Amino acid sequence: MPKQIHLAAHFPGVNNTTVWSDPQAGSHIEFDSFVKLAQTAERAKFDFFFLAEGLRLREQGGQIYDLDVVGRPDTFTVLAALAAVTTHLGLAGTINSTFNEPYEVARQFASLDHLSDGRAAWNVVTSWDAFTGENFRRGGFLAEADRYTRATQFLATARELFDSWPADAVVADKDSGVFLRDGSVGGFRHTDQHFDIAGRFNVPRSPQGRPVILQAGDSDGGREFAAATADAIFSRHGTLVEGQKFYQDVKRRLPAYGRSRDSLKVLPAATFVLGDTPAEAQEKAAVVRRQQVSGATAIKLLEQLWNRDLSGYDPDGPLPSIDPDISDAHIARGRASVRMNRDPVAVAREWRSKAEAEKLSIRDLIIETTNRQTFIGTPATVAASINDLVQQDAADGFILVPHVTPGGLDEFADTVVPLLQERGVFRTEYSGPTLRDHLGLEFPA
Ligand SMILES: Cc1cc2nc3c(=O)[nH]c(=O)nc-3n(C[C@H](O)[C@H](O)[C@H](O)COP(=O)(O)O)c2cc1C
Repeated sequence: MPKQIHLAAHFPGVNNTTVWSDPQAGSHIEFDSFVKLAQTAERAKFDFFFLAEGLRLREQGGQIYDLDVVGRPDTFTVLAALAAVTTHLGLAGTINSTFNEPYEVARQFASLDHLSDGRAAWNVVTSWDAFTGENFRRGGFLAEADRYTRATQFLATARELFDSWPADAVVADKDSGVFLRDGSVGGFRHTDQHFDIAGRFNVPRSPQGRPVILQAGDSDGGREFAAATADAIFSRHGTLVEGQKFYQDVKRRLPAYGRSRDSLKVLPAATFVLGDTPAEAQEKAAVVRRQQVSGATAIKLLEQLWNRDLSGYDPDGPLPSIDPDISDAHIARGRASVRMNRDPVAVAREWRSKAEAEKLSIRDLIIETTNRQTFIGTPATVAASINDLVQQDAADGFILVPHVTPGGLDEFADTVVPLLQERGVFRTEYSGPTLRDHLGLEFPA
């Protein structure tokens, strides 16, 4: 029996992947767009619909960075509304553990799980930076090293709240007049380094017991957090070699927590471009890359590494000969990863020599270096690649990020999914009503 593939649909909002200016693109805010993508995903029997979260608009040079996520309606509001227009599709929301409180978040997820009859999932992220924190009067709150401590304690606290109601607590027997079996349900008292709360949880146990837990951090701490607590991990490692390395790394951490290999699904983000022939798909992919990286975008992305105003540079000209500014004041705010993991001067040197050797303009170079396209080909070759990566343990499935919202999943649903179904590696019908059923996860006792 081949491994079964899991698929999710990411609604990304306006960002470097989506092409909002494409003639086919619709609104990233209006409810109709969310409905369209969710219903396509459900028609194609996807496991879940996924919303990322941005708590503060990113800025560059003191202005809203309008090539990144601009305008993001509230996650719970959107997912609750989607619960009413879908029947089986899982509904995953990204909610951070740094600026929220466990009681509130547990209540929201338990409510979503009730409203959707057991389809809620929580992507626990830590998004720690002080710039985001200012929105919450918590600028500078929580050193990087403490993020996963709070996340672990946050999740443990939320679990206690979810578990504070037994499944059979509500009797509601009209004849006897008994509503609750036992009036002591919902009680909790939790004290640790970050939380000191007591009371009674106000939502009875939901259909899945607890929402499915996703995790999206990549550091050692993030991976350990996933191994200890998550049901699925959203990663950036979607190629064969990188994917296998990541997959092995997180799966080998599971036994220490008494967990089986299957209890944590690895789901990298993936984009796709389809064509009738491999050559046509490659041509389309090149067009999409040029749409994703306009001249103005190329300069903005270059500024993020150089940490300088480069608005005077010609995107079709050569790279700046001046080195990046490595001071602490950064031109791009709210995008912590820009500076964290690399040496800007060394990367700038690499980029300059690559551009010189291959005669690339600024725009050409950015198109290459920021390329995240995963699957390019005919429906048959894309279906084969997806299946190969899953069967070879580079992933358990993918979170697909269409570049056109909201219709960008239609072609995949109509052409690639049937081929995966023919191979017997993707469901033709949902086997149960809840997201735990789709992901093959156990229900919490
Ligand atoms: C694939 C992926 C998706 C992420 N999505 C979000 C998101 O939607 N919102 C958010 O605030 N942080 C998001 N994060 C950031 C993580 O929560 C975390 O703050 C960041 O990766 C730093 O943690 P790390 O050092 O463990 O990687 C994402 C991270 C990854 C790897």
